[in-house]
Amino acid sequence: MCPQGRAGSSPVSGTKKPALSGLIYFCEMMIDNIKKYLEEVKKFHSEKPEEIEAFRIKFAGKKGVLNQLFAEFKNVPPQEKPQYGQLLNQLKKEVNTKVKELKNKAGKTSSVSKDKTDLTKPGFPHPLGARHPVNIVKNRIIDIFRRIGFNVSEGPEIEDDWHNFTALNLPEHHPARDMQDTFFVQTNPDYLLRTHTSSVQIRYMEKHQPPIRTISPGRVYRNEDISARSHIQFHQVEGLYIDTNVSFADLKQTLLYFTREMFGKSQIRLRPSYFPFTEPSAEVDIYWGLETETDYRITKGTGWLEIMGAGMVDPNVLKNMNIDPDKYSGFAFGMGVERIAMLLYQIPDIRMLFENDIRFLEQFKHSL
Ligand code: PHE
Repeated sequence: MCPQGRAGSSPVSGTKKPALSGLIYFCEMMIDNIKKYLEEVKKFHSEKPEEIEAFRIKFAGKKGVLNQLFAEFKNVPPQEKPQYGQLLNQLKKEVNTKVKELKNKAGKTSSVSKDKTDLTKPGFPHPLGARHPVNIVKNRIIDIFRRIGFNVSEGPEIEDDWHNFTALNLPEHHPARDMQDTFFVQTNPDYLLRTHTSSVQIRYMEKHQPPIRTISPGRVYRNEDISARSHIQFHQVEGLYIDTNVSFADLKQTLLYFTREMFGKSQIRLRPSYFPFTEPSAEVDIYWGLETETDYRITKGTGWLEIMGAGMVDPNVLKNMNIDPDKYSGFAFGMGVERIAMLLYQIPDIRMLFENDIRFLEQFKHSL
């Protein structure tokens, strides 16, 4: 029989160390205790790894229930030893199976343990992008003119009739409006998508008095059939220079400087042409050469390539902007960025510049 145990002296109740020494009383309480633990183990369930671990430590840890109960074995009266030992072994077994089982389950479902990210591994390299060829060329043009004192001005892509046409000596019904097929805003045809960045020059003259030295890069739109050579959208850089005593010779010299810097070619020619906002007007050609088959093809066998329009600012435009044409004169020029990019990079189709095919764009990684 079990003698009466000392109240509260159960070696395994709570976390207190068993206060047993000398004469040990062993009673059924001990066996009951193990039975309670067996119940607890059976009932325990969790899928959280940290809870399972706490359970394992409580029972199978160094100072856990099992070890405490085993330490108690030597104090168990001989006649109780078989039952105590058997129950204790059962408890140990159940604890171990439970921990194993729950850990397995948690390992399968827990995203934490499934996705073991190694934070010390080197990352995946982030592929570097490339500048778009249109931007490369545009920036080069801007750089070249900046070096001789031009600043950069910008304006809206949706423009009104005055800035895109009328102020540029292209009043309503002027036949030259047909030179640039225009997209109008359907609900209000006073507004349109700018057909050139000359509109920005008008805006600049509204705000600034001469001396003026400005270039206007930007996107422009024309209602044209899309083909390998033309598109409904493209980019321009236009330039404006107004001061006292500006002559046609200044225009020629500026253009010569530009073509040398841009293309490394120093032969240009100016063919008489017509633009409503300049008088006289010219198309500017550079001598490209006839060294390769491509040279033959792109210059149509002449060796000459047209690269921009230019001229002396028409006095009517100056008057429209309240600039005295008797005191001031100026020149203007305008070029298409895509056309120059196509020449420099030998791009056969303008549409490639708008498709954003990564295989095409990647080729410009090492361009400036
Ligand atoms: N604005 C003209 C165009 O878009 C280009 C140009 C600008 C011509 C300035 C002469 C002077 O075609």
